[in-house]
Amino acid sequence: METPSVLQAVLRAVPLPLTAVLVVLAIPVLALVISSVQTGENEPWSLPNWKGIPVLGNTIQYMADNGSFIARASLAMRTRDVVKFSLGPTPVYLVTGAQNVQALFRKSTSISSDKFLLMVMGTVMCFTPKDYAKFANDKTGRLPEPVEGTAASHKGLRYWAEFHHHNARSLSLTSNTASLTAKFYEFFQERVRPYPVGEWKAVNLLHFMRSQMAGAAIKAMTGERLLERSGEEDLLGAFWDYDTVTMRLVYALPKWMDPSAWRIRDRFHQMAVEWLKKDFDPLSERESVPQEIDWHPVLGLAFMRDYLNWGKRIGLSVETRAGYFIGFLLGLNANSIPIAAWALFELVQDPSLWKAVQEEAESAFEAHPVSGERVLNIQTMLGLPLLQSVYAEALRLHVSVNVTREVISDTTTIAGYQLPKHALIQAPTYIASLNEKVWGTAENSASEFWAYRHIRYTTIHGSKDKKPEFAMAAGPSDFFPYGGGISMCPGRHFAKQEIMATLAIIVTTFDVEMVEWVTMDGKTRSDRPARDDLKWSGSAALPPDRDMKVRWRRRF
Ligand code: HEM
Ligand SMILES: *[C@@H]1O[C@H](CO)[C@@H](O)[C@H](O)[C@H]1NC(C)=O
Ligand SMILES: *[C@@H]1O[C@H](CO)[C@@H](O)[C@H](O)[C@H]1NC(C)=O
Repeated sequence: METPSVLQAVLRAVPLPLTAVLVVLAIPVLALVISSVQTGENEPWSLPNWKGIPVLGNTIQYMADNGSFIARASLAMRTRDVVKFSLGPTPVYLVTGAQNVQALFRKSTSISSDKFLLMVMGTVMCFTPKDYAKFANDKTGRLPEPVEGTAASHKGLRYWAEFHHHNARSLSLTSNTASLTAKFYEFFQERVRPYPVGEWKAVNLLHFMRSQMAGAAIKAMTGERLLERSGEEDLLGAFWDYDTVTMRLVYALPKWMDPSAWRIRDRFHQMAVEWLKKDFDPLSERESVPQEIDWHPVLGLAFMRDYLNWGKRIGLSVETRAGYFIGFLLGLNANSIPIAAWALFELVQDPSLWKAVQEEAESAFEAHPVSGERVLNIQTMLGLPLLQSVYAEALRLHVSVNVTREVISDTTTIAGYQLPKHALIQAPTYIASLNEKVWGTAENSASEFWAYRHIRYTTIHGSKDKKPEFAMAAGPSDFFPYGGGISMCPGRHFAKQEIMATLAIIVTTFDVEMVEWVTMDGKTRSDRPARDDLKWSGSAALPPDRDMKVRWRRRF
């Protein structure tokens, strides 16, 4: 038989610790598979195991070689809306198509995303075991009404519902988004202003965004004290190091096998713990800062203050509060910054596009009615067709999320198939976002960045001229970079405003010329352009794996 040698070859190709994990996984899986070989007649088509390796073939490819798993799944889903495979012992249903994707987002009482957030809480978000247990034991869900059949046996606080209220619901309120954008705009402008007018300066764009966009966003959200305590450069360095290990924390290995990932996490976590213990908590106890004070230099924005005080009020430890806080900083920066960088890369490489976006963006600036200062009108900006289209293209091409839900009720169906409790349903954005049938045109294939893809021209009544308008080139079931349903990204409104404002400020402030691609250290010339860094496959925005060196010059 050939199979064992193939398996050996695969295991050799896989990094050693992963091999250990797979072997450990294989034991319960084999037992489970033996008991469940018979598949019901009402079952969707199953993806054959990779290389014919029994039982674990697909699991191995999914974990070790996501690029080729994705290629195989995409091919299978050209002709099918539901495809089944197993991930370890768990059946997974990959879905695409409007009805299935909508069902995934709508059925929040029978399918849930909380299990994944729980995984993140225990790892990336540094919850203490005691606080983790509070969430793990609360089965009542995050909706105002407890999940059916859970209310009677539940004692104490409904942690999930509370968390959802103070985190997602609060962040997505229009007023809170507006406060955050206003502060971000102010602080980002401060960081662009020092460039001397008329003088060419060399800049590595990704590095610029990772320091200045992140610095401005963190200051807007949390005040300036956190950044000052350890020095901004150190804090941001620790933050981006933490960002690179998050996938290792969630998916791979126990602490003793990959200690450096946990050390990196702990270093950043400690900075947040210190800030809470030495600045935030003592000051909050000494004086009660009223909600009307929108932004406070030590305590941050009103809703951030409320979120951090809530954790204290319900008895979560300072470590756990610092943990959900750094998780929030990850949400704040880890996706919007790479997306803004990708959009800028595209603009720089196409000078006529840069010019067109510059002219369009100029029209959203106006003189402030009191100070006379030149300011960006956010509402006008949000209506600009070309800028919106550029933003949407960057998201379409560079966000890869496996929107994943767990079946929590026995009566869940999708596309007519009955799904077992604890099965997973996944709607990967890569299938929808790159679908030729949906996005491709005769001149511009789905895989290309085409700045004008989401623009429609409408005739102006009584005139020969046509007016450009923003119109997504496909519907919400083919474009869901922010997920959907109850756990849909609550930062999406801010992310859009932040990314568009950053682009508007940069293109109107500078003239630019590309110099060359460089490696991530910023020093070595790269002979190829940036590509998506697949380390983050399935987790949201894929950052570029190269930086772009440019020269820019302030125009006024
Ligand atoms: C381009 C930028 C962004 C992308 C592509 C993105 C994407 C996502 C996705 C896919 C989810 C999971 C959705 C689901 O389960 O259906 C999510 C959740 C979340 N995002 Fe974002 N996000 C972005 C920006 C932001 C920003 C700027 C913030 C904060 C200000 C933020 C905060 C969060 C939070 C707190 C959650 C967890 C929500 C929950 O489970 O209740 N995100 N994001
Ligand atoms: C997302 O799914 C792809 C396959 O569809 C898989 O290879 C990858 O590891 C997944 N990523 C995450 C973060 O779950
Ligand atoms: C996807 O594959 C790449 C390279 O093959 C690897 O570096 C990365 O860790 C993988 N990502 C996930 C989420 O499995």
